[in-house]
Amino acid sequence: MWDPTTYLRFGDERSRPFHDLLARIPAERPRAVVDLGCGPGQLTAVLAERWPTSRVRALDSSPEMIERAEALGAPVDFAVADLRDWVPAGDEDVVVSNAALQWVPGHQELLRRWAAELPAGAWLAMQVPGNFDADSHRALREVANQPTWRADIAPLLRADPVDDPVDYAALLTAAGCAVDAWETTYVHLLPARPAAEHPVLAWMEGTALRPVRAALDAAGWSAFRAELGVRLTAAYPVRQGQVYFPFRRVFVVARTGDHAQENQ
Ligand SMILES: C[S@@+](CC[C@H](N)C(=O)[O-])C[C@H]1O[C@@H](n2cnc3c(N)ncnc32)[C@H](O)[C@@H]1O
Repeated sequence: MWDPTTYLRFGDERSRPFHDLLARIPAERPRAVVDLGCGPGQLTAVLAERWPTSRVRALDSSPEMIERAEALGAPVDFAVADLRDWVPAGDEDVVVSNAALQWVPGHQELLRRWAAELPAGAWLAMQVPGNFDADSHRALREVANQPTWRADIAPLLRADPVDDPVDYAALLTAAGCAVDAWETTYVHLLPARPAAEHPVLAWMEGTALRPVRAALDAAGWSAFRAELGVRLTAAYPVRQGQVYFPFRRVFVVARTGDHAQENQ
């Protein structure tokens, strides 16, 4: 289950890649804009502000996230749905998916299909975290593979589900798109307050630790967090009252080609 409040704790840091992605979509008056895996909707509202004449639709598989999104009152049609089942209606000139496709194994096949189904000249833009090799994820895997948790928790951790920018670029170019792909490592400066939990632990509770939390009782969760906290404290020491948390992200903006020409 997603907890919108926990997820929004680092809202500024989490939203910056979205704005960097949006800056590379030069669409002027798209007919419809779609946000796939919209979460709590505050970034979808930015899409509605950016393109006020467009119909803006958004979906997420989490009812809790959609409930939070609808409460914003933004001019957006929000719906609970699985993005794997989404099929373009034909008027989507902009499709955005921010920090969601890493939860969808095999999303490369979806990208291929969407590129073929979207209208010619549509913009397909995505951003995914590319940090599965980071110390934070390594520490999570180490704790999950300790004897206490190996049977129940280790199988919940996903293999790296995300490709490098070059692979997405090749995939979407082969699908007839003009592609702009890149990566950025942000250095998030997370305040470390005395007696508070380690800030990287607090960050991970909003995302990567969700399946772990759901699988453990209160005592198990407390023990797991304590063990992980020790490793994170060593990997991300507090300096000048904060920790320096590098976070790599992968971006792709693709413009669909003329399908009629491709089929000739
Ligand atoms: C890290 S949040 C990102 C939310 C939002 N796009 C943002 O940038 O703030 C990931 C979201 O993807 C959604 N999600 C994961 N798998 C999904 C799927 N198969 N279909 C629809 N939404 C999905 C989750 O429910 C969650 O709200």
